[in-house]
Amino acid sequence: MIKIAPSLLAADINDLSNEIQSVSSADYLHFDVMDGVFVPNTSFGLQALRDVRKITDMVLDVHLMIESPSKHVADFAKEGGDIITFHVEAEEPDSIHKTIQIIHEHGKKAGLSIKPNTPATALIPYIDTLDLVLVMTVEPGYGGQEFISAMLPKIVEVRSLIDNHKPDCELEVDGGINHKTAKLCIEAGVNVLVAGSDVFAAVDRATHISELRNP
Ligand code: DX5
Ligand code: ZN
Repeated sequence: MIKIAPSLLAADINDLSNEIQSVSSADYLHFDVMDGVFVPNTSFGLQALRDVRKITDMVLDVHLMIESPSKHVADFAKEGGDIITFHVEAEEPDSIHKTIQIIHEHGKKAGLSIKPNTPATALIPYIDTLDLVLVMTVEPGYGGQEFISAMLPKIVEVRSLIDNHKPDCELEVDGGINHKTAKLCIEAGVNVLVAGSDVFAAVDRATHISELRNP
């Protein structure tokens, strides 16, 4: 079954409660954290996560686009993140296993993300400990960018890594997802679709979410 994770980055932050309610039929709520260093933009932080946790029971899919995530994952777990995903490019190779372990010690699911220029092979040392792999289909940092279709062969490669090493690991994509690109990603083996501008631009978001599940 295909899961949909609307990205809160595209919501009206002045009306957060209604915005979240409007996508509550989705499977996860995607929560982007940017530090202005790992990516050239800033977005939500810990306080926003605390606020969102208070107003929804949805599964919070936290996407950390920050440097040195090992120092911060515990805080995001304590403040209500359910899935905590960080970037392989943002942490020293020696600390990646430790970061995954900290997330698991807090009873949360651990995800690892790769940027468009990072090969699927970067996941190999960690794949058997992961609950989710996030393949970025745009350069992280901004919503509303165009899907990079050159990522499709990499998605196929990651699907085969998962099937061979950790079949229950989820495969998520993020960036430029709409009806058309969702179909391509599902055919390539994705089971979780993050969608920001596409979902929040829809008037009837519940219908839009169910259509994205079967593009
Ligand atoms: C981008 C973020 C995405 C963003 C996706 O760096 O990680 O989650 O919200 O936005 P869309 O779906 O508009 O490309
Ligand atoms: Zn994201």
